[in-house]
Amino acid sequence: MKAIAVKPGQPNSVHLAELDKPKLDDVPNGHGVLVKVLKVGVDATDREINDAEYGEAPPGYDFLTLGHELFGIVEEVGSNVRKVKVGDYVTCTVRRPGKTIFDQIGRSDFTSDETYYERGICLLHGYLTEHIVDTEEFMVKVPDAIKNLSVLPEPMSCAAKAVEQVYEVQRRLRVWEPRVAYITGSGQIGLLATLCLRLRGLEVYTIARGAREGNLKADIVEGYGATYVSTQETDLDQLMNQTGKPDIVIEATGSSAIAFKCMEVLSHNGIMVWTSITGGDKNIEVPSNKINLEWVLGNKALVGSVNANFRHFEMGINDLIKGEVVFPGVTEKILTHPVSGLDNYQEMMDKLLDSSALKVFVDVADE
Ligand code: BGC
Ligand code: ZN
Repeated sequence: MKAIAVKPGQPNSVHLAELDKPKLDDVPNGHGVLVKVLKVGVDATDREINDAEYGEAPPGYDFLTLGHELFGIVEEVGSNVRKVKVGDYVTCTVRRPGKTIFDQIGRSDFTSDETYYERGICLLHGYLTEHIVDTEEFMVKVPDAIKNLSVLPEPMSCAAKAVEQVYEVQRRLRVWEPRVAYITGSGQIGLLATLCLRLRGLEVYTIARGAREGNLKADIVEGYGATYVSTQETDLDQLMNQTGKPDIVIEATGSSAIAFKCMEVLSHNGIMVWTSITGGDKNIEVPSNKINLEWVLGNKALVGSVNANFRHFEMGINDLIKGEVVFPGVTEKILTHPVSGLDNYQEMMDKLLDSSALKVFVDVADE
């Protein structure tokens, strides 16, 4: 079986590897599910693993199969599987349990261990191959009605978790009626978070570098009834003067400088969620006294959010379905750059560098 893999630690090592086809009984007690891989999405994480910024091979291997955004169809199920059946479209969560209490209760996205196990990212092979097997507990059914959105449930699960964190943390206030949200970044997480917050009725401003003119990302933002703000035309301070300070900021640019800059605009009692994974060692200077003072006097909250458990996949899928009804045809515009077949792994990596590529995904097989 072919697989797109890298040699962790070796920059630009993407290649085609050979794996044995997995078997149902690789999972004990009849809980295995065999999935035929149809499509797999890739994102900045895959690019950074190929740049050798992070990523680890599974024990006993010198390569790591990439891919953590699965869309597949169930081909075979073990005798005790109840959650999915043959012919169902599925995706699969990314992180697998470690040893902490959070891992034991289905919340490995909150593991308190420094070592984490993620398919296609860290210590476990990913989905960019022909078949995969996993335990039914990690399978998430994708309703036929959103089959057109294929690989988006995984990135949506991360957006859904970030939004869930907003409301969980703000229960501290007893009463809270957010009105204005800023989302920084118009990549997949920024756009999908825009959808989540628009479905909750907020006035959403999605802020990014690209000019408005002829910009698909801006079209999608506006398709969701949000406002696209190009920082080439309006900076954060000008926007704040127009809209008032935001109650929520969801940061998804990939830039720590912007993450810190946003700390200067949040409202009193506001909440900011950081979702960017910033490799490298960039340093910037920040007005630390001013920020410290305003955050204390304003009871502001900052929370980091990574990964997602199966509940977030379900929440995200619910919002994707609702999005199809309320904003029909908008979300699928995110799926911009298909790559045909596992053999074209170099094209996949090249497309990840293309700034107009909103979502690169590999068409692995037909049904
Ligand atoms: C994935 C998450 C993962 C994170 C950190 C993201 O690209 O979508 O599932 O937890 O990278 O590895
Ligand atoms: Zn990802």
